[in-house]
Amino acid sequence: MPKLAPKRRQKDQKKKMENQKQTGPEAPIKVSTLNCINLSNPDIHQSVSLLKQACLDCGFFYVVNHGISQEFMDEVFVQSKKFFDLPLDEKMKILRSEKHRGYTPLLDEHLDLENQVHGDYKEGYYIGVNVPENDPESEKPFNGRNVWPESGVLPGWRETMEKFHHEALEVVKEVARIIALALDLEVDFFDKPDILGKPIAILRLLHYEGKISDPSKGIYGAGAHSDFGFVTLLATDDVMGLQICRDKDAKPQIWEYVTPIKGAFIVNLGDMLERWSNCIFKSTLHRVLGNGQDRYSIAYFVEPNHDCLVECLPTCKSENNPPKFPPIRCSTYLSQRYKDTHADLNAYNK
Ligand code: OGA
Ligand code: NI
Repeated sequence: MPKLAPKRRQKDQKKKMENQKQTGPEAPIKVSTLNCINLSNPDIHQSVSLLKQACLDCGFFYVVNHGISQEFMDEVFVQSKKFFDLPLDEKMKILRSEKHRGYTPLLDEHLDLENQVHGDYKEGYYIGVNVPENDPESEKPFNGRNVWPESGVLPGWRETMEKFHHEALEVVKEVARIIALALDLEVDFFDKPDILGKPIAILRLLHYEGKISDPSKGIYGAGAHSDFGFVTLLATDDVMGLQICRDKDAKPQIWEYVTPIKGAFIVNLGDMLERWSNCIFKSTLHRVLGNGQDRYSIAYFVEPNHDCLVECLPTCKSENNPPKFPPIRCSTYLSQRYKDTHADLNAYNK
């Protein structure tokens, strides 16, 4: 590389310092403005256009008027907190199973191998679609029996979570219809029996337990990642923490906070949809910084049926823009991503 002339070098140095200033500990907090989709808006064209803009831009948007009452959302958060308040040995009794159900302790998930010294400073609880062992469908990697705290320990807990799982799936299906239109597909393209008929839908309660993150030391509530699947709904309490980075290749990376909006879901697209849409729609890097306060959030990851073939969508390719990825089965793709980011279960038996 040619050496820079001194003046140019000075200028570059200055720019670098300005950038560092912007991202240093005293940097003003940058807050993101995201499009907001009103699911009760009768003007579907307006929703499609807002969603499309968001998906081309950063793959994050809010969804409001989604049909889940505020009262019920509050109840789910109350119940979630009750679970995390249990003593650790009680929670460890329902440690995450091979089928991704149950409790994930602090540091279990390690999302950003490059920048994190440990796993994430969060604990979680996975709830999937319940498939009993005598059902042949239970052979599939993400199908299985849910595990629950004993009902004597948390009465009504299971019912609340099952109801939320069910209602949130309806929200995702509605969002999927708008996504389909935004990709010039038939409105029910995704919401069909062979795509979202038997979805891999994983509800994940999360608790960030107040550890202050320090990016300079590689300590994060949740390391930088993009979600693996199709669509994620995220409900959070009112503690700031979630950040997105619109351009992962920018140096330095610019992180913006996403403000929680009471009652809204923050929705983001996952890597599987990015791949499906031939990178027309974006899955965006995000992370969580702890600020010393306890923080609770609820993520709901929805992916198509196990056997759904994720193959470049018909409207996302042309002679000049051929498919960038070969087709892949949904469950094959997802299993690999989970394996890459979660601790080996054997580690807990030692
Ligand atoms: C996730 C995630 C963000 C949050 O679980 O994938 O990005 O605010 N969570 O908890
Ligand atoms: Ni995420």
